[in-house]
Amino acid sequence: MKFFIDTANIEKIKEAAALGILDGVTTNPSLIAKEVTDVETEFEAHLKEICRIVDGPISAEVTAIEHQGMVVEAKQLSQIHPNIVVKLPTTRDGLKACVELARGGIQINMTLVFSAAQALLVAKAGAAYASPFIGRLDDISHVGMELVQDILQIYENYDYPTQVLVASVRHPVHVVEAALAGADVVTIPPAVIDKLFKHPLTDIGLERFLADWEKSRKRG
Ligand code: E4P
Repeated sequence: MKFFIDTANIEKIKEAAALGILDGVTTNPSLIAKEVTDVETEFEAHLKEICRIVDGPISAEVTAIEHQGMVVEAKQLSQIHPNIVVKLPTTRDGLKACVELARGGIQINMTLVFSAAQALLVAKAGAAYASPFIGRLDDISHVGMELVQDILQIYENYDYPTQVLVASVRHPVHVVEAALAGADVVTIPPAVIDKLFKHPLTDIGLERFLADWEKSRKRG
């Protein structure tokens, strides 16, 4: 399973890249807006900086909501760097834009997927990635991970090459469940990456090993 980081924060991306297990990055308009003062003038330079740090798929989202505007913006984004994957919302216009752009060789990540029906449409539209938002489904008392399982089953039934990118991850259990389900990618916020390392027994075990080692040094 590939690990993407779900942030536009340069320091956090550098930290995760330094671990050596990072495969890509996902951003969205909210994440970009948190990191730059003026999206109009700084978005492109910010994306270029991310592409310099991580050599893998970097998702950048359009903000147009009608088909033609999405196509224009998507083409501009894809010119920024060969690793840019254009994110489009899963709407009627987004789907039409996906068909057109995917045929033209642009990698598309269809975002805001909340149902298996939407996931089926985006696979037929030629999306490289489908992003089910599991945390937001959990927030409204649906089991987000059941959607991931359904999508994986549908894609397997028809050999769709679209990769399932588990998004809106809130905690380490989401990451483990995504792996158990067989998701292709999980995009993880920095705070959740930190939590993946944590186990109290690891800390206690290490403390004991070092204490025993120290005792023996004093004896000698
Ligand atoms: C995915 O690509 C999105 O950026 C992200 O996972 C959204 O997550 P949220 O529900 O925590 O905003």
